[in-house]
Parts: sequence; C-alpha cells; structure tokens
Amino acid sequence: MQLNAPLDMHLHLRDGEMLENIAKCSAETFSGAIIMPNLVPPVSTKEEVLAYKARIMKAIGEETFEPYMTLFFKPSYDKDFLSSVRDEITALKLYPAGITTNSEGGVSGFDVEELRPTLEAMSELNIPLCVHGETNGFVMDREAEFASIYKRLATAFPKLKIIMEHITTKSSVDLLDKFENLYATITIHHLLITLDDVAGGMLKPHLFCKPIAKRPADRDALLKVALSAHPKVMFGSDSAPHPKHAKESCGCAAGVFTAPIALQLLTELFENQNAPIENLQAFVSGNAQKIYGITPPVKTIVLEKRPFHVPSDYNGVVPMYADEKIAYSIKK
Ligand code: DOR
Ligand code: ZN
Repeated sequence: MQLNAPLDMHLHLRDGEMLENIAKCSAETFSGAIIMPNLVPPVSTKEEVLAYKARIMKAIGEETFEPYMTLFFKPSYDKDFLSSVRDEITALKLYPAGITTNSEGGVSGFDVEELRPTLEAMSELNIPLCVHGETNGFVMDREAEFASIYKRLATAFPKLKIIMEHITTKSSVDLLDKFENLYATITIHHLLITLDDVAGGMLKPHLFCKPIAKRPADRDALLKVALSAHPKVMFGSDSAPHPKHAKESCGCAAGVFTAPIALQLLTELFENQNAPIENLQAFVSGNAQKIYGITPPVKTIVLEKRPFHVPSDYNGVVPMYADEKIAYSIKK
C-alpha cells in the first residue's frame, strides 16, 4: 500500500525545543503541511514568516518536506502588506479571540465591514482564509453556532476560499454543498473518537482538544465525506503537541498529538470501512493540491500491515494511542 505526496493541511509545529523535538515526526512521513501561526507572539510579519520557516527547515534536516506557511489573521492587514508577503505564504489563519491555544490576539465580533478591507484584498490576491470556527458559546454548540458566521463570510466574499478547519459536526459538513467557496479539513482523531472516548469513562487528557469531539452522528457525517473523498475536504491532522506535564495536569492544554501515526491510522480506518485506496489518496493529497493549487514535493510512503507499537512518548510528548498497538506501520 502506498501513498504519494501525503499532505497535512493543518499542523502545529511550535517553536524552539519543541519544534526541534517533533518536526521530524511530520517531515518523515508527509510531503508538506500547512503550518499554523499560533506561536507566542503569533506569526504576523513577513520577517517572522521567513524566520520561522528557516527554523522549521533547520529542524527537519535532510527530509523532503515543504512547510506551507501561514500568517495569523489581523483585520489591520491591508492590500499593500498582503501583496508584499504573498509569495511567502499559502494562507492566513483566523482565530476568534481567546478560543484556543495562543489565540488571544484573534478576531472579536466578526463585523463584516471591519473585516472587509483585509478579506477583499485576500480575495483579489487569491489567498485562502483558514478559520477556527467556534463561538464562545456552550462547548458542544460552539462550532454549530459558528455556521452563521461562515455563511456571512462566504456570502460577503464569494471569491474568497474559506477553509473550515478541523470540522467536527454534521452542521459544518452540511455547509460544504451550500456555499461554493467553503472547504474543510478533517482530523484523524475526529474521525475515530466521540466525546465518549474523551470523557465517557476515565478522563483522557491526551484526547482533549478544541473543537472537542462530538456525537456519533457528527462523526458519521465526517466519515461519510472523508471516506468518499468529497472534493472539498482535505486531511488536516491538527496535530498539536504539548509537553506531557501540560496535558496531565489540572488545567489540561487542548491538543491531540497524532503526527507520527496519522497515516497509519488513516490507512487502517479506510481499510476497516472498505473505502477505496484512491479515496484515501485524494483525501490526503489530491483534493488539497486542487483546492490550494499547490504541487508538493515528490515523496512515496509505503504502509505495511504489520502492528506498530505506538511509543509512550516522543521526546516528552504523548501521542494518541500511546503504548497501544495499531495495525499499520510505515516501511522504512
Ligand atoms: O486542540 C487544539 N490545540 N485546538 C486548536 O485549535 C489549537 C491547538 C493548539 O495549538 O494547541
Ligand atoms: Zn489547530
């Protein structure tokens, strides 16, 4: 079984020691990834994009891997600024203020007129907008409540490609076919777990993330579009490493670390669900290439049906399914 140029269209690589420790987990198996900008401070100037990309390239060493860089969305960006940075970035990432890790400088209110200059400039420059779509409402309803904002943005900026990041609900899936300019990424953990896995028994901090995993009917809706490789959905792991002490603590940080096992889990899932391998290829690469208009570096990953014992940690970061066996391994 082989996958060509797998892409992770939503990845947190962090910075400093964490970046050094985990970058290879993605670079060894993926051909490229969209790199999230929620550092402290967030990546928001051309200089910061270039410097961060250089640190990523250093951390991945000899691996063939393209980091597709993003800027942290601010309504103050004008067309001159965006034109000057266009060649260095693949997208902008919009966070509602305070919604998740390092998002304090994000957007509040979602006033279309306030956002108009930046979003119109992005449309004209053909820069996609990636969105963390959650309100500050009740935790299970945050994403569904955000649908009205997606509708408003999609209608007001019909030429802007809007990527609904890490969707977790049927309500988001339903939007895909209603608005031509809405697309989505889906994680592997949201295809595999529901809230029951996180909090239905003993609390599982390593499965706690934002948006929180939802109901079985929501997961089924996600599975339907992922397994059929709906042309508007792409794989984005949202692999979000935190040190073990930050997860196994009172006040657990949000994020599931899946980078080193994502392709193995996807292969197992598509096999178990009898989905054709061509669909997996489209979900992990082809769809993203078309949506973003990118041509990733050539890379072939061979997966073999041989149990893989997931390590208990990768340099102090605990992965999903730590110390458990999964069905597929990556052939070295
Ligand atoms: O669970 C999450 N962790 N969700 C996000 O949106 C951010 C991420 C992180 O950066 O830790
Ligand atoms: Zn994320």
